Amino acid sequence: MAQWIEGRVVERIDWTDRLHSLRVEAPIAPFRAGQFAKLGLPVGEEIVGRAYSLVNPPGDPLLEFYFSEVEEGPLSPRLAKLEAGAGVLVASQPNGFLVLDEVPPAIHLWLLSTGTGIGPFLSILRTEEAWRRFQRVVLVHAARAAAELTYRRLIAGVAEAQPKRFAYIPFLSREAADYALAGRIPAAIGDGRLEARAGLALDPAKSQIMICGNPAMVEDALAALAARGLRKHRRKEPGQITTESYW
Ligand SMILES: Cc1cc2nc3c(=O)[nH]c(=O)nc-3n(C[C@H](O)[C@H](O)[C@H](O)COP(=O)(O)OP(=O)(O)OC[C@H]3O[C@@H](n4cnc5c(N)ncnc54)[C@H](O)[C@@H]3O)c2cc1C
Ligand SMILES: NC(=O)c1ccc[n+]([C@@H]2O[C@H](COP(=O)([O-])OP(=O)(O)OC[C@H]3O[C@@H](n4cnc5c(N)ncnc54)[C@H](OP(=O)(O)O)[C@@H]3O)[C@@H](O)[C@H]2O)c1
Repeated sequence: MAQWIEGRVVERIDWTDRLHSLRVEAPIAPFRAGQFAKLGLPVGEEIVGRAYSLVNPPGDPLLEFYFSEVEEGPLSPRLAKLEAGAGVLVASQPNGFLVLDEVPPAIHLWLLSTGTGIGPFLSILRTEEAWRRFQRVVLVHAARAAAELTYRRLIAGVAEAQPKRFAYIPFLSREAADYALAGRIPAAIGDGRLEARAGLALDPAKSQIMICGNPAMVEDALAALAARGLRKHRRKEPGQITTESYW
């Protein structure tokens, strides 16, 4: 059983009607970049709890969560209504394996995300470890519409700090923009557009890949990468791919 800690919302950011971030004060145990914490609210007699990736890097005074409001969902529409000062429960112990500790050494790190799945990568990108361990880091964020390509200012800050080592590659599937690749990530792995845009090859000897977000995207990306000779990393059977599915 999770031990709940009473946290306090310090700020809510509304990116679009259904995409929000919460900044929360809560004294939870230390976490590793890429992990998630559980948020909970009382609903009737029960506490409804769900996992949310930490967007902030370890050591920040506030916890930050980026989430989508799922219509009819038991928790996310309630989280989306919390105002500054409201209480929210946070599980005391963060968890999860989408962390650099689980990723074998490599030269290039690819971070592939859809929707809110970008969250854990925004934490990882702001650790010293990511830049100590990899020569180049590629962040891929796929969304339906341009307004959903969130956290652009934070990402621009990473690009400014690492001008030669970092690439941000946005994808849009349901509208067009000259700065974004069109369509879905697996298709762009298959036809070479992703590597062309990154200026890097997906190479089993040089690349490690972390994938997060929509489970169908995770499956389709695994299949597209398998065709290129990359496979899931397991402690007993080393590979190149570490994944987390949000549902
Ligand atoms: C390890 C882990 C980490 C997670 N981190 C995040 C996070 O950082 N941000 C976040 O928004 N969600 C995250 N989720 C999903 C989150 O836990 C909830 O499921 C989600 O917020 C919906 O909660 P709900 O109670 O309203 O509806 P639920 O009953 O939990 O979900 C209803 C349906 O909503 C859809 N759905 C769930 N999550 C998403 C999503 N993120 N985007 C689009 N559709 C979704 C699925 O079809 C799901 O079956 C994570 C899940 C896991 C397992
Ligand atoms: N985004 C919106 O405007 C919107 C508005 C209201 C409600 N919703 C609901 O919110 C939920 C989540 O929407 P979301 O847009 O945050 O997340 P999403 O459906 O996971 O879409 C995010 C990105 O992932 C892509 N994707 C989906 N399946 C994929 C696959 N198998 N392989 C590769 N890429 C894949 C999508 O491309 P495709 O576009 O090609 O699917 C899109 O570019 C959905 O249930 C949706 O109905 C969304």
